[in-house]
Amino acid sequence: MVEIQVLNCAQAFVKYRLQNPDNNIWPIGIKKPLYICAMLKTTLLHAVEAGAKQLRRYFNNEDLKISNKEGINNWVTDADHAAEKAIIEVIKAAYPDHFILSEEVGEMATSSNTKWIIDPIDGTINFASGIPICCVSIGVEQNGEMILGAVYNPFINELFFAEKGMGATLNDKKISVSKKAAVLNSCLVTGFPYEYLDMENGPLEVFERFVRKGVPVRRLGSAAIDLCWVAAGRFDGFFEHSLQAWDSAAGYLIVEEAGGKVTDMNGGQFSPYQKKIVATNGLIHEELIEVIHNRKQL
Ligand code: IPD
Ligand code: CA
Ligand code: CA
Repeated sequence: MVEIQVLNCAQAFVKYRLQNPDNNIWPIGIKKPLYICAMLKTTLLHAVEAGAKQLRRYFNNEDLKISNKEGINNWVTDADHAAEKAIIEVIKAAYPDHFILSEEVGEMATSSNTKWIIDPIDGTINFASGIPICCVSIGVEQNGEMILGAVYNPFINELFFAEKGMGATLNDKKISVSKKAAVLNSCLVTGFPYEYLDMENGPLEVFERFVRKGVPVRRLGSAAIDLCWVAAGRFDGFFEHSLQAWDSAAGYLIVEEAGGKVTDMNGGQFSPYQKKIVATNGLIHEELIEVIHNRKQL
């Protein structure tokens, strides 16, 4: 289990502040924004751990109940619901008024400017098949900007974390994107939606374009992990045609904080509320987009 840590200089006060949210006295030398961020971080890490506990509990459990959402093989399991419940309980205990957007329950809207974007299990098919490539993914958005992200795969004990402007870490060690500068030498990763997308430059067409030229393209089955593995330099680039906010919210901040670049498929500003994503080490970004749109031959 990954040890939960908070920002050093605020560490001693975080627990106190969580228990006394209405106390307006701030200890000398500690800035209020730092408190707020440290408290959010503590809650975020408690929430991912609470979710992960449920993933461990249900993994490889023969009695796991699986049902289908819309589309073929778009599964939801008891574990998704249990993890989501545990995560939301932690968040609501600390911040009862915060806005929540979570895959299975949808929006729990409030007027708060802080929104928690939750995927209780990213990689549900892997999870339900006993494949340990899945995770809890939670992003924290404030005033429309992603400020914190955590992605935790409890089966290989990897906790990815990023705070806006502070870099990205894997199990508390700084990570950074790869240095590959050409798509032809890159190792890529992608994902496919549950329903076939029949469109120009669609998922299969683009996948084929790379594979025909011998460029390795992996398909792990968890977009959040795909993004984190770009952040860690394991992959040089990731693209996918149809993601939801909970798939990308945490991972895209982690890539950016690791020095990478994340845009929509046209190279425009990324928002987790639109579906298409390209995330790379920055060096292959433009070339990857040109190939995706078939404007450049490899
Ligand atoms: C899915 C995974 C997968 C991606 C799909 C997502 P889920 O999320 O992230 O890698 O290709 O588009 O829906 O259903 O396992 O939470
Ligand atoms: Ca997902
Ligand atoms: Ca999910």
